[in-house]
Amino acid sequence: MKKIGMCSIRGWKGVLGKNLFVFVAILFAASIVYFYIDFPLKVNMRTLEDGFHDDDFYNYEDIVQREDTALRFNKTSNDVIVFVHIQKTAGTTFEKFLVRYQQNLPCKCQAHKKRCNCGRRSSNETWLFSRYSTGWVCGLHADFTELVVNSCVQKVLDKQAGHKKKRNYFYTTFLRNPTDRFISEFRHVQRGATWISSKHVCNGKPASVNDLPTCFDPRIGWEGVSLEEFISCPYNLAFNRQTRMLSNLSLVGCYEHMRKPSYEQDKIMIESAKENLRKMSFFGIKEQMDDSQFYFENTFDMQFTRKMSVWGKSKSNDTVLSESQLAYIRNVNKLDWELYEYAVQLFDERVSQLRRKRRIRR
Ligand SMILES: *[C@@H]1O[C@H](CO)[C@@H](O)[C@H](O)[C@H]1NC(C)=O
Ligand SMILES: *[C@@H]1O[C@H](CO)[C@@H](O)[C@H](O)[C@H]1NC(C)=O
Ligand SMILES: *[C@@H]1O[C@H](CO)[C@@H](O)[C@H](O)[C@H]1NC(C)=O
Ligand SMILES: *[C@@H]1O[C@H](CO)[C@@H](O)[C@H](O)[C@H]1NC(C)=O
Repeated sequence: MKKIGMCSIRGWKGVLGKNLFVFVAILFAASIVYFYIDFPLKVNMRTLEDGFHDDDFYNYEDIVQREDTALRFNKTSNDVIVFVHIQKTAGTTFEKFLVRYQQNLPCKCQAHKKRCNCGRRSSNETWLFSRYSTGWVCGLHADFTELVVNSCVQKVLDKQAGHKKKRNYFYTTFLRNPTDRFISEFRHVQRGATWISSKHVCNGKPASVNDLPTCFDPRIGWEGVSLEEFISCPYNLAFNRQTRMLSNLSLVGCYEHMRKPSYEQDKIMIESAKENLRKMSFFGIKEQMDDSQFYFENTFDMQFTRKMSVWGKSKSNDTVLSESQLAYIRNVNKLDWELYEYAVQLFDERVSQLRRKRRIRR
């Protein structure tokens, strides 16, 4: 393995001269394009500049681009996997697999108990921050803003350990086709779920009722809601949920202006969500379960004993929608569509990169 590593370094030097010219040419072309298509490229250029490296936030590049395994998930050190669970994205399947069907660092699960003990062999501190290990300790379906921006994960784990400690965080999440996700959320709410106890903490405090009114009477709930009513509530949190839950909401003044979306606010949120997604060490795509499993297993060097694609099949029937309802749903989730298309492309790149690496290693 070492030899292959050295060869590839020498190989790099050999082609550097030729590639430098190509690179400069591309940069030149890119800078012209940049003036015309300002926004999509800005994100990429910034990545080139500083790589967005936070000390304790391990992104995909950190893990994969090193030949040695020093930055791979290390079960015996201070590494922690954190899962950002966006509703109706196959998150529950993934969480179940992490605690129950993963061989390399098994959690101790007891019959009839929802939560498992995912302690390390040496210290008994958890290596997994998720619903079936720590539980919803940062709030029900806590989002990126609550977990990371408000440092909730760090605070909770420090509290459990009894002292402050530096940890290496490996963030993970799952995304899904936004129209399907939205419909799935609608059906879930129709069956009686509301997630009303989510706190939506931002800048250190929960969102106020004024900023975030509910679409229904909290004493009654929203069971049996019709699709028409569901999509016509202007502050329905189902709209663009994936973008909102992955972006740093401090950047847009939290929930204060959520009721009055603006072009600027949308732009900041989508850019932030893309950036945070890119920083994650893993994200799965519900429509590509086999590849998601491959990506996870090869990034963390952990193996599942079953196939997620077989387990995660949706059981309920499809809701029949008219063309105009579909178009409307697509439109009210347009940030999520932009994020999803970006995510699928990034996902495909990472999966093929991992496949190449695997071939080289063999
Ligand atoms: C994992 O962490 C432990 C403790 O910090 C260290 O001794 C060990 O060398 C690390 N393993 C790898 C593969 O980096
Ligand atoms: C590890 O923690 C769990 C739950 O917090 C506890 O039940 C168990 O006894 C602990 N094990 C050891 C070896 O300390
Ligand atoms: C979130 O945005 C705030 C406000 O700009 C900034 O101070 C903070 O560093 C950001 N946090 C993360 C994790 O991106
Ligand atoms: C789904 O559709 C099938 C066939 O139309 C029907 O038999 C079944 O009861 C439906 N299930 C639900 C949960 O609506």
